[in-house]
Amino acid sequence: MLRNDQLDQWDRENFFHPSTHLAQFARGDMPSRIITGGDGVYIMDRDGNKLLDAFAGLYCVNIGYGRQEVADAIAKQAQELAYYHAYVGHGTEASITLAQMIIERAPKNMSRVYFGLSGSDANETNIKTVWYYNNVLGRPEKKKIISRWRGYHGSGLMTGSLTGLDLFHKQFDLPLSQAIHTEAPYYFRRADAAMSEAAFSAHCAEKLEELILAEGPDTVAAFIGEPVLGTGGLVPPPAGYWAAIQEVLRKYDILLIVDEVVTGFGRLGSMFGSDHYGIEADIITCAKGLTSAYAPLSASIVSNRVWKILEQGTDEFGPIGHGWTYSAHPICAAAGVANLKLIDSLGLIANAGATGAYLKTSMLGAIGEHPNVGEIRGEGLMLAVELVADRDNRAFYDPDLTIGAKVAAALLKRGVIARAMPQGDIVGFAPPLCLTTEEADIVVDAMKEAVQEICSNT
Ligand SMILES: Cc1ncc(COP(=O)(O)O)c(C=O)c1O
Repeated sequence: MLRNDQLDQWDRENFFHPSTHLAQFARGDMPSRIITGGDGVYIMDRDGNKLLDAFAGLYCVNIGYGRQEVADAIAKQAQELAYYHAYVGHGTEASITLAQMIIERAPKNMSRVYFGLSGSDANETNIKTVWYYNNVLGRPEKKKIISRWRGYHGSGLMTGSLTGLDLFHKQFDLPLSQAIHTEAPYYFRRADAAMSEAAFSAHCAEKLEELILAEGPDTVAAFIGEPVLGTGGLVPPPAGYWAAIQEVLRKYDILLIVDEVVTGFGRLGSMFGSDHYGIEADIITCAKGLTSAYAPLSASIVSNRVWKILEQGTDEFGPIGHGWTYSAHPICAAAGVANLKLIDSLGLIANAGATGAYLKTSMLGAIGEHPNVGEIRGEGLMLAVELVADRDNRAFYDPDLTIGAKVAAALLKRGVIARAMPQGDIVGFAPPLCLTTEEADIVVDAMKEAVQEICSNT
């Protein structure tokens, strides 16, 4: 194994890392973590540590690390044809096959796939698609996009604006004016503790309708949401939420973009979150699980309803003026084809459902009664433990104590990677979909000790 201290120095001197405290990193006040290998649910670093990655990178390595089938597919494609573009009707066997495989798996009303490289660019594509759609329909004012506080939709200009987390707005002059935010479907933190889940869902729908009416329905083009809030705290929707929201959207002819970057291709124990919660999307965003991050690839899946208007638009205005050099990159598409085949052949979606249920039940059994555990929630292989200063009144910890980050660090010390979510003291787990019950036990045991060490001594 490479043990090269020069690498550490180069890292601090040359590399602008995303989502990092840049000054601390440059000064050496925080560790530089250099990852060298991966196998199954484990990753290895250059110091010889083997860590159980219970967040699958950034909830993306769904098939686990080190899958030979995907590595072979990438190598074969690189040798045969490393690149050709997809403009003006060009394609490759890999990209055409992958589009077909996605449509086969997508909800029945879906029609076409646009390929990008990241969840952020896919959502930028989706917003442009919605704007184009309304222009073709002669509704140039209908352009605003509604997202939820705590939603996460990327880091671009419009996608960063739609992301409902302060960190992604502050000092960036965001949000842009066409992005507006509504109530987060965050039942645990609702204002009125006596409200039932169903009543809270109705309340969220009412708040949405109020916002639409205040802005003017003729100015609101689309609503974007994740089936389960991800980066905002891994929060499954309260009962009846999606039905209530969709009713409002239909009433005002507002398109629904379902952001399935995390939930697409199995994480909830269903192919899509849309299937899981009975959501009828106009556009679905996919990325992460599409290739399990073996290569960067995203997909904007467009419904029949939207596609019809896009065709009409190009008849009227000419070829669509939207494209990336790397759209439908054949190496990434080959990785996607091999990845989707593996998800099927290994039965990973069923495993996500079954092992996810096991992980949640075990976590509840281990720390569900701890006085500083406010809520354990999740669906499939998305699980969150929300830590509180006082369980009885759900009091927040002082944010300066950074309890969530400390618990994640205590887990790391025990060889388990979880993610301290960016807003609130929430520890997130979203392991590869191949997690076994034995591996789930390791995660739960480590979490029990970590909570004991940090919360019982604070
Ligand atoms: C729901 C959701 N949408 C969009 C994105 C943005 O994807 P990317 O980081 O690939 O741009 C993410 C990333 O975590 C996500 O969780």
